[in-house]
Amino acid sequence: MISAQQTPQVSQQSIAQAAANARTRVSPSLDAGERDRLIGEIKRMLAEQNAVLVAHYYVDSDLQDLAEATGGHVADSLEMARFGYEHNANTVVVAGVRFMGETAKILSPDKRVLLLDTEADCSLDLGCPAEEFSAFCDAHNDRTVVVYANTSAAVKARADWVVTSSIALKLVKHLHEQGKKLLWAPDKYLGDYVRERTGADMVLWQSTCIVHEEFKGIALRALMRQHPDAAVLVHPESPSGVIELADVVGSTSQLIQAAKRLPASKLIVATEDGIFHKMQQAAPGKVLLAAPTAGDGATCESCAHCPWMKLNDLQRLAQVLRNSANEVHVDEDIRSRAEVSIKRMLTFAKQIGISGAVPGNA
Ligand code: 13P
Ligand code: SF4
Repeated sequence: MISAQQTPQVSQQSIAQAAANARTRVSPSLDAGERDRLIGEIKRMLAEQNAVLVAHYYVDSDLQDLAEATGGHVADSLEMARFGYEHNANTVVVAGVRFMGETAKILSPDKRVLLLDTEADCSLDLGCPAEEFSAFCDAHNDRTVVVYANTSAAVKARADWVVTSSIALKLVKHLHEQGKKLLWAPDKYLGDYVRERTGADMVLWQSTCIVHEEFKGIALRALMRQHPDAAVLVHPESPSGVIELADVVGSTSQLIQAAKRLPASKLIVATEDGIFHKMQQAAPGKVLLAAPTAGDGATCESCAHCPWMKLNDLQRLAQVLRNSANEVHVDEDIRSRAEVSIKRMLTFAKQIGISGAVPGNA
């Protein structure tokens, strides 16, 4: 039994091991001829199979370009969910990580949903196993349960609400104004950030993103001193010492929009490095600098690369389409309960006019 004071700790070692395994499975880069041949084959297979490709901003830039060139979409996790749900293709191919594939399947049970790699995990999802999470909820059964989208279908099924980073602040503010006490999982940094900004009464699960956790405040301050004219963009999965230095804190799509909108011609960016592809297209004349992952306490194992997002590549996409492989299945009881909490989020997003798309660039 988990008491109200305790927060379960999931083995950091097993998460580090899963990340290390993923790093060993990243494909070698392709020569130009093979790359062009695969792109042609994938385009043909997507059309033949009435399949649509939905890609996250962190995946390989060829996949992002291919998604756009074939009528698919590049987006943050909120918009990926909405787009896959509303699109009329028979098959949704998700270039991202497992929770994104599961979310697509939960919303579209009659569609075939394919993932590029079945081991494309997320440290937040791994750090929040459904059984322990359920016990944590039982220990706080007077609280409204809000979970981040980066969780398994079973965790979402236990939640009242699902949120993504695009909408977390607004939804928690809304629930706080209704006098609700909240249980938040799994990202402790994002949880801390919304708690501080809204004043909501929240108990937090204690997981982290292994990528954003590597950004260090001290090293970022040093870079800011070298570039005093730069604006700082930070994803809220980062530690508080990094968030407090930000000019803009937001989801991937919100950071890309900020890069476009802000007057600064130089931007320091604290998020996974796959974002630079779309960010540079959105803000073509601007200098983009990666926020440092070095400095005190750094392990630099991730260095702003998500090992699981990097499992998405042209080779795997072609394989999946050739073999109809890696189909996502979600138990119907779990699916139907998770659907309720995800649809609440989509309805709320619509009501307040939030989208995870970048206008004119997605
Ligand atoms: P976004 O919803 O901001 O795209 O974030 C997803 C994610 O996994 C960030 O690490
Ligand atoms: Fe999960 Fe972090 Fe990778 Fe996003 S970047 S998918 S939060 S491990």
